[in-house]
Amino acid sequence: MSKGKGKFIVIEGLDGSGKTEVINRLKKDFPDFVYSREPGGTVFGEMIRSVLLDSKSKKVPPLPMLLGFMSSRASHVQELVSPSLKKEVTVVSDRFDTSTFAFQLHGQQNRNLEKIFWFLRKNIIKELKIEYIYLRITPEIARLRSKNRDGNNHFDKQTKDYHQRVFKGYEHFFKKIKCFKIDASKDKESVYRDVYLHVKKLVNK
Ligand code: TYD
Repeated sequence: MSKGKGKFIVIEGLDGSGKTEVINRLKKDFPDFVYSREPGGTVFGEMIRSVLLDSKSKKVPPLPMLLGFMSSRASHVQELVSPSLKKEVTVVSDRFDTSTFAFQLHGQQNRNLEKIFWFLRKNIIKELKIEYIYLRITPEIARLRSKNRDGNNHFDKQTKDYHQRVFKGYEHFFKKIKCFKIDASKDKESVYRDVYLHVKKLVNK
């Protein structure tokens, strides 16, 4: 699946890592790519997204929440990512499974769900090759940058400790899974230049 020209590129990072700006600039520089997000990416995925991010879902237990994110992901992969790659079209996703690992398992302290996470991950991604780009910032910097952002959802309105755990989740995941790591505490221009050059290299391979 990954042997064609299309790549599956995932942009991951804490809130405030500059993910949104990077993706907006990629959209201008690579207009032929497909851009999607998680949760979401398909009609079904977007419907699940609105349920998962609704404040009424705040008290839903960990397992149904995890399955919700995984369900959206399975739809995203089967209905959008794989068909695009087959047509040799590159897909860029704003978040993917690292977010589940970091938020649901580490942030919300449900490490007991790790086995289920890896099992479902394996069954959802199968042979899919994922090119992760990790915009790495510390939670301290993330907090400073996120302070003035509007539209925060119930995942954002959390304590310092929570964000510290989410960060640890990111670090932990990328110790196991290969990624292209960028120091996103640098100035915006150099962060974007690193992303741009890496993406260019990936699609020219
Ligand atoms: P969004 O408004 O898109 O946030 P951001 O701009 O930071 O990406 O909302 C997505 C939220 O969903 C974000 O707070 C992280 C959360 N999330 C999870 O908790 N688990 C997941 O698996 C994914 C993909 C996202």
